[in-house]
Amino acid sequence: MELPIIEPFKTKMVEQIYRSTREQRVKWINEASFNLFNLRSEQVTIDLLTDSGTGAMSDRQWSAMMLGDESYAGASSYYNLKNAIKEITGFNYFLPTHQGRAAENVLFSTLVKEGDIVPGNSHFDTTKGHIEFRKAIPVDCTVDIASDLTALNPFKGNVDLDKLEVVLKSNAREKIPLIIVTITNNTAGGQPVSMANIRGIHDLATRYGVRFFLDSARFAENAWFIKTREDGYSGKSIREIVLEMFSYTDGMTMSSKKDAIVNMGGFIGFRDEELFRQASAYNIIYEGFITYGGMSGRDMNALAQGLNEGTDYEFLTSRIGQVAYLGSLMKEYGIPIIEPAGGHAIFIDSKSFLPQIPDEEFPGQVLATELYIEGGIRSTEIGALMADRDPLTRANRFSGKELVRLAVPRRVYTDNHIRYVAATARNVYEKRDLIKKGFRIKREAPILRHFTIELERV
Ligand SMILES: Cc1ncc(COP(=O)(O)O)c(C=O)c1O
Repeated sequence: MELPIIEPFKTKMVEQIYRSTREQRVKWINEASFNLFNLRSEQVTIDLLTDSGTGAMSDRQWSAMMLGDESYAGASSYYNLKNAIKEITGFNYFLPTHQGRAAENVLFSTLVKEGDIVPGNSHFDTTKGHIEFRKAIPVDCTVDIASDLTALNPFKGNVDLDKLEVVLKSNAREKIPLIIVTITNNTAGGQPVSMANIRGIHDLATRYGVRFFLDSARFAENAWFIKTREDGYSGKSIREIVLEMFSYTDGMTMSSKKDAIVNMGGFIGFRDEELFRQASAYNIIYEGFITYGGMSGRDMNALAQGLNEGTDYEFLTSRIGQVAYLGSLMKEYGIPIIEPAGGHAIFIDSKSFLPQIPDEEFPGQVLATELYIEGGIRSTEIGALMADRDPLTRANRFSGKELVRLAVPRRVYTDNHIRYVAATARNVYEKRDLIKKGFRIKREAPILRHFTIELERV
């Protein structure tokens, strides 16, 4: 019998999980104005709000932290990180930042100005926020199949090359400072982008003279999908695939809190020295000197080690396998989810789950609230609240998709926890007809409103 691939780690330290009663949770979610970001972590039993910065670091990462060099300039930790980034991504130049959106801030301050157009695939909310904040326009060129939530297409995160070419053709070259493609495509359900697609984007970018960057938070998971789903890649290592992916690009932004398994950190990788120099000025203003950029030396050491561990094939197989296990249980219980399962998260289709709740009453948020009340599960809405208002018309952006994302932190929960999550969802599903009404907005911020929004029941 072939032995299964197991988690390539065991537990050395454990952390208390907090239990609560339904009555307590009803009270707490009311006090939180039905915004799960407003809950205290002790009020949550299983926290699937995000896989960002919530992973468990290894003993090697913790010991690398003890060797952190906290020199302001030229720390050895900076050079450790520089070497790891060069080895794994191939980029000669990089700037450390305190997290992914800071990398976006520095890069977009350098490149994006009012009236510009930034095409890509379902830009992540902070990416969209940084583009729109500069009065530029993100253009979503994701393949249409991504909106068919259950189509079993292996690369539903792809860019539609025809749509991209229309954007490139119909706008002046100077209006398009870069193409940014998110791997994996978080907003479209953690779906991967194929190597053929990345190569196709590179060819178009080269033909039209436009820069091509990858928003790379989950680049290793994307490489795992290429290895396991795309013809010609099964015999290649994750590292070889990663190097090939980045070889087609001019650079990357990275939220290290995902595939590099650290609690905080980010960076920008550049191929071009001149662009690196221009961006360095913004890094110094916003983040810190170019050899630390918002990170302490110990954190850069942990990140260098995390990049190695996050690109391990066995780790990725067990991690993505655990997410797929959650998906298979949900399916077994009849719960409508995005298929195939994403790399880092399962996305529940709340419009099918709660068809009685109109988009205007935010069915995604309603379902996320019910999962919390039922079992203390914290998830996040990926729907109209997160999509925010149109910057010009200020109308809510209803895209027709109202999702709840259950993001699985790396190396944190056991399969038993996963079964608890699925059972909670099943209980809510069985009682779904009793849920009659949704929410209206009480208070919201002008941008990235979902983080701080306050809601009340209709
Ligand atoms: C695809 C993607 N890009 C960028 C970011 C922003 O990174 P950070 O949260 O580190 O600022 C995230 C965070 O969730 C993400 O998922």
